[in-house]
Amino acid sequence: MKARITPTQREVRLADDDLIVSKTDSTGRLTYVNRTFMRISNYPEHALLGQQHNLVRHPDMPRGVFRLMWETLKAEREFFGIIKNMTSDGDFYWVFANVTPDHDQGGGVSGYFSVRRSVPLAAVAAASELYTRMLQLERSAGPATAPEASLAWLRRTLTERQTTYERFVLGLYAS
Ligand SMILES: Cc1cc2nc3c(=O)[nH]c(=O)nc-3n(C[C@H](O)[C@H](O)[C@H](O)COP(=O)(O)O)c2cc1C
Repeated sequence: MKARITPTQREVRLADDDLIVSKTDSTGRLTYVNRTFMRISNYPEHALLGQQHNLVRHPDMPRGVFRLMWETLKAEREFFGIIKNMTSDGDFYWVFANVTPDHDQGGGVSGYFSVRRSVPLAAVAAASELYTRMLQLERSAGPATAPEASLAWLRRTLTERQTTYERFVLGLYAS
């Protein structure tokens, strides 16, 4: 069960050398977290292992971004994203996430692996602008079609800018 946490306006900034690492099973249930994950999210290991990764989900994140993440992972491709997460106290932290499928010996997907690092302020601003619009669209679309509606808008908008979400994210990371 996910506890109900009230979001605050306090930000936890990652240091340049902070790397947040986690592994999940194929359903997104946490099987490994590193110490930086525990320190930044402010959860002890026992409160994380076995839980769904949406434990750190922030309500400001549009569902369409996670729809895209899972579509990408199910296609056995790696995902790059800019994500706002929430700590156990309701504080927020922004990360650049790289999520990759983890393969077993037979070549099947046994789970997923994610490494995250800090995000430059300009990248947070650029991503927030898109996410705010996506959230508005999700509210007016209603829960049943929210992720499709906002993801369709994101794809259209980035196509108009002659880019994709992945190139948009990697471009911000490089800048
Ligand atoms: C390896 C891996 C890492 C993930 N990292 C995050 C994360 O940092 N923050 C997050 O909100 N969701 C993350 N997710 C996605 C969650 O599993 C979930 O899809 C998302 O939080 C939306 O949850 P909801 O549909 O229950 O709202 C990750 C999933 C995987 C497989």
